[in-house]
Amino acid sequence: MKILIIFGTRPEAIKLAPLIIAMKKHKIEHRICASAQHRGMLDQVLNTFNISADYDLDIMRPHQTLSDITSSILVKITHVLDEYKPDILFVHGDTTTTFAASLAAFYHKIDIAHVEAGLRTGDMYSPYPEEANRKLTAVLTKYHFAPTHHARKNLLNEMISDDFIFVTGNTVIDALLLVKDKINRTVNLKKSLEERFSFLRLDAKMVLITGHRRENFGNGFDNICSAIKMLAEKFTNVDFVYPVHLNPNVREPVRRYLSGLDNVHLIEPQEYVPFVYLMMRSYIILTDSGGIQEEAPSLGKPVLVMRNTTERVEALEAGTVRLVGTNINVIIDETTKLLTNRALYDDMAKAVNPYGDGRACKRILQFMQEKQLIKRGIY
Ligand code: UD1
Ligand code: UDP
Repeated sequence: MKILIIFGTRPEAIKLAPLIIAMKKHKIEHRICASAQHRGMLDQVLNTFNISADYDLDIMRPHQTLSDITSSILVKITHVLDEYKPDILFVHGDTTTTFAASLAAFYHKIDIAHVEAGLRTGDMYSPYPEEANRKLTAVLTKYHFAPTHHARKNLLNEMISDDFIFVTGNTVIDALLLVKDKINRTVNLKKSLEERFSFLRLDAKMVLITGHRRENFGNGFDNICSAIKMLAEKFTNVDFVYPVHLNPNVREPVRRYLSGLDNVHLIEPQEYVPFVYLMMRSYIILTDSGGIQEEAPSLGKPVLVMRNTTERVEALEAGTVRLVGTNINVIIDETTKLLTNRALYDDMAKAVNPYGDGRACKRILQFMQEKQLIKRGIY
């Protein structure tokens, strides 16, 4: 059984890295294809986890459109599928790499295994284009690895057979726990991370910020940046740290609004280890990221989600994340409450693990054994 694993962006690579490490460990035959929809941010993850791609489609272009990404992948992956002739293609999540690679595999009649299957908001334009990407991928997929029971229910509602849905937990928690343990156990690493971020005041609370969603471009980002500027001016005793996504649609407004403020630190996208350290060190996280909504509850960090919808309902139900949208006043009010009201903060800052226990990859491989897709005797 030949397995091809494809990913294109930072989060897909982080979330597939522990599965690749497990496949390597158990000598399961596989090859890795990077679409490189992201270039720099993907290479950062490959370095961190010591993974190299067997095939690199190298498709990233400045200001790439959704059609550019889809069509480049469809054309460029064909020679990989023709040459390696995989029996199964592993895809992850909801990026345009996920959908385009799945479509190409379908055209080649190759079975698809979808990791992080079944997340839904019910709104095709939020997040855009991810809600469509994951629904379209589900239609083409044979093996659905759902992170939670809620995700499984979403798939059942779309008439997908329960025989091919397996609830595993989210592999991001496998990656997170791996890195968190490494930071906590390696004194020199911790010391070097402290030095790297020595610009942070030891006695100051830190608000960590990320943002990149397409539906927030324009007005949404203007609002987010205005709110952060006002918060930084109001709370001069708080450090605001923003690793800025490489998308030019993000970098332009962020620089325009937030450069030159003493307590706002605009930094480059961080490799996964320093970013996990920043999450551990933060007091609150403001983000529109999907993955961070899954990681933060494990670390006991409250998250204000700058979006109008979320597919991460488990964290919402657990009370560790709150939707604040992109309204300036709401972002300011909710952040202010968390910075000033300890009881409210403690209520949100509880460590819960709705997304897994660090054994999602093991469950994926167990399922593959049960279905006789890989040799028996691993688990
Ligand atoms: C993509 C995914 C999104 C995912 C996000 C994770 C799609 C359509 N979007 O959004 O689902 O949540 O990644 O971060 O699949 N760029 C660089 N270097 C990089 C990465 C990006 O320069 O390493 C710049 C390029 O100019 C590129 C632009 O960012 O054209 C946009 O990248 P793209 O992958 O199209 O969209 P993201 O917003 O990154
Ligand atoms: N992340 C990182 N460095 C950063 C910002 C984020 O390693 O500077 C990690 C983060 O911990 C999470 C993932 O990247 O695992 C989220 O990626 P992103 O927000 O780009 O995408 P999304 O999860 O929204 O698809």
